[in-house]
Amino acid sequence: MKVNGTHYRSLWWDMNQSVLMIIDQRWLPHDFRTQALHTLDDFATAIIEMRVRGAPLIGATAAYGMALAAALDPSDSALNAAWEQLNATRPTAINLRWALNRCAETLQPLPVDERAAAALKLAHAIADEDVEINRRIGAYGLLLIRDIAAKKPAGEPVRLLTHCNAGWLATVDWGTATSPMYQAHDAGVPIHVWIDETRPRNQGALTAWELGSHGISQSYITDNAGGHLMQHGQVDLVITGTDRTTRQGDVCNKIGTYLKALAAHDNDVPFYVALPSPTIDWTVSDGVSQIPIEDRDSREVSHVQGVLDNGEIDVLRVTPEKTSCSNPAFDVTPNRLVTGLITERGICDASEHGLAAMFPDLIRKAAL
Ligand code: MRU
Repeated sequence: MKVNGTHYRSLWWDMNQSVLMIIDQRWLPHDFRTQALHTLDDFATAIIEMRVRGAPLIGATAAYGMALAAALDPSDSALNAAWEQLNATRPTAINLRWALNRCAETLQPLPVDERAAAALKLAHAIADEDVEINRRIGAYGLLLIRDIAAKKPAGEPVRLLTHCNAGWLATVDWGTATSPMYQAHDAGVPIHVWIDETRPRNQGALTAWELGSHGISQSYITDNAGGHLMQHGQVDLVITGTDRTTRQGDVCNKIGTYLKALAAHDNDVPFYVALPSPTIDWTVSDGVSQIPIEDRDSREVSHVQGVLDNGEIDVLRVTPEKTSCSNPAFDVTPNRLVTGLITERGICDASEHGLAAMFPDLIRKAAL
């Protein structure tokens, strides 16, 4: 997607320096800064500190981390250590383990001297596949939006609500939940997007920055506003992303997603989840009991980051000093609250049957 007229992916390989370039998302939407990742520690830190974030982007970054590790030392022991270090960075988004396992499966059988080239080729492939997956999710999501638009008076916008940032910044390009929005806007279907601020880290501001740069009509709202808007008929469709979806279609996503799904259910608002197949965890059925939920720094709750009138980025405390805070970063929406899953192969029910019919090859592979 474009930033000030230049097309960017959220990461790119610099062939001259043999380094991975990332957008350091800690400073967005106030400042656009890029960073080169030179060492395995740089990769791990970038993921831990959420310089890169969002399930698909974390996976693609980890794949490039394995490519760097293979270039430095392609031995089994070094690659195993790199796998462990990267896998320990964040616990919930399954794309991380998916990408690391794919690297391990590809590299292990190869002679040591072929591993570095193969690892870089694979990282490029994972990044390119992510872009194509998200483009396809957008094409299927666009059909949903068109259906709703067709039932409205001509020119009246389809009003979508989204939570967190499942945009191009959270993927390699397009985004998952935002891809249908970009494609609808580009196709001339009028839309308006309600963007949840998504405390504590306010990833909604990233979504606002993205959609605003693309000229998409939007309103940034507090996390608590969605239920009210739905009760008053102001939301036609909810689309969120996901960090891990189980084989029975339970959806783990940013904290607060579950409450939006409950409100959508109570108000008969369709609740869809944009789901790339690498985000499916075929090893887990019940998401509530089986998905590890990241417990983040309580300082994210007690403090907020913003920009001062003089343009400086600063952090302010909002709670009384020494207030004890708790910060679970994700929640699980049970499949019964999910209207459907928008995947790169089409839209299916949030159920084991729906996912198995859509991905028979993947469910077979997972059983091996
Ligand atoms: O904690 P983050 O910012 O990495 O979480 C991101 C989200 O929860 C996104 O909504 C999710 O990863 C989907 S990304 C396409």
